[in-house]
Amino acid sequence: MTRRFMAAFMAVGLLVLLVQDVPLARYLKQVETDRIMTSLQRDAFVLAGRSEEALHSASTDDDDPMIELAQAYRSEGGARVVIVDATGSAVVVSDDDQSSVGTAYGSRPEIARALTGAVATGSRYSKTLQMDLLYVTVPVISGGDILGAVRLTYPQDVVDSAVNSQLRRLAIVALTSVLIAGIVAYVLARSVTRPLGALRLATVALAGGDLTVRADEGVGAPEIRSLSTSFNQMAVQLDTLLAQQRTFAADASHQLRTPLTALRLRLERARELLDTDPTGAEKRLDAADLEAQRLATLVDGLLLLSHMDAGEAERKAVDLADVAQGRVDAWQPLAAELGLVVTIDAPSPTPVLAAPTAAEQIIDNYIDNAMSASKAGDTIHVAVIRDNATSVVRVVDQGPGLSPEDCERAFVRFWRAESESTGTGLGLAIVARLAEASGARVKLERSPAGGLVASAAFETAPPPADV
Ligand SMILES: Nc1ncnc2c1ncn2[C@@H]1O[C@H](COP(=O)(O)OP(=O)(O)OP(=O)(O)O)[C@@H](O)[C@H]1O
Ligand SMILES: [Mg+2]
Repeated sequence: MTRRFMAAFMAVGLLVLLVQDVPLARYLKQVETDRIMTSLQRDAFVLAGRSEEALHSASTDDDDPMIELAQAYRSEGGARVVIVDATGSAVVVSDDDQSSVGTAYGSRPEIARALTGAVATGSRYSKTLQMDLLYVTVPVISGGDILGAVRLTYPQDVVDSAVNSQLRRLAIVALTSVLIAGIVAYVLARSVTRPLGALRLATVALAGGDLTVRADEGVGAPEIRSLSTSFNQMAVQLDTLLAQQRTFAADASHQLRTPLTALRLRLERARELLDTDPTGAEKRLDAADLEAQRLATLVDGLLLLSHMDAGEAERKAVDLADVAQGRVDAWQPLAAELGLVVTIDAPSPTPVLAAPTAAEQIIDNYIDNAMSASKAGDTIHVAVIRDNATSVVRVVDQGPGLSPEDCERAFVRFWRAESESTGTGLGLAIVARLAEASGARVKLERSPAGGLVASAAFETAPPPADV
């Protein structure tokens, strides 16, 4: 990309130079021509003044001071000098070889014009010399008489080569400028494209699944640096989102396992009773139906949770007492099978704000844990305590309880007091997340009797307005 940019830059630079330099060359040629003409004209007048005397005396000796002056002038400036008398015959020539003295120049248009008293300037092709000439011819006048004329000629190529050498210098300066501008542009373009290239590589790596890749935020122009910062924020966000998705998948499968076991248990019991006690079997099937419905609700809740970012979800008012009662009823058959007693004390209504299905999932986990920690004959007591600001649900068991340190640790994912226990160690971690989403506080503490008290404090919802 940098190379293509450079080629385009240089091409545009050269085009601009060309467009500028063609009229400039023409202008320079004109200026140079005008300059030479003006100086020739001035010199011609000086020489005309000086040659008055020579024309008066009509002397053409080799040592005539006029010849020396003409020769000195030619060797200095390069212009050829011809001084003619009134008849147009050459009296003085600046040539080393004086053979042209006496030649009739009257037929030359510029000499003929000067001999009429006018100044003639211009350029013409000289057949004799076979080249273009610039000429200036001025008359030599003394007291109203035209004594002769002075002609200065200058080869056109001298003007051309002077203009060309100026143009060459100009072209060198211009090309050098384009080259320097090109180098500066290249360095600048590289400073932009290099960090962009690195950023592109990082993007490719990210697209390839490497979520740890980060762009260097310290290189390049401010715009590129802020682009790198945005890229890194996106990568972190993506990483977090994917981690949340993985957590969700793990949590979801865990949460579905317990009710599925309960459902299977009920169906098994129903099958056993099918022949001997059809009414009992029907009751079990109804309970299984209810459990299946709960599973559906649970899946909905989990899906909702998967859409929540960390932080609070949209909370709704639920009757905590009603939810607790429903969960106790659902667990009763299993408790009975294990020889456990589950009691409940819940003043209804106890409206609280909670994320959808959060309250029932929290209570489920607490009861599940309490049952795992209990032995036959134990009692599990569920209590709902209503208050103005916060309302609490508590699940108290008579199991071995946990030390104060373990009460903290138990909320960490996968932590279990005994590694050989059948639990996955995820239940309380999910409880913590549900509580966070509901704006609730959860904690475990040792009960005075030795068991564990698992509680969740929800914000009390305003009572429903009277209709
Ligand atoms: N009521 C309780 N009494 C004693 N220990 C408990 C109690 N509740 C939880 N624990 C301890 O805390 C650990 C973590 O509980 P958590 O609910 O997170 O996972 P789990 O019950 O082991 O597995 P899962 O809930 O995923 O089936 C348990 O393994 C257990 O050791
Ligand atoms: Mg558990």
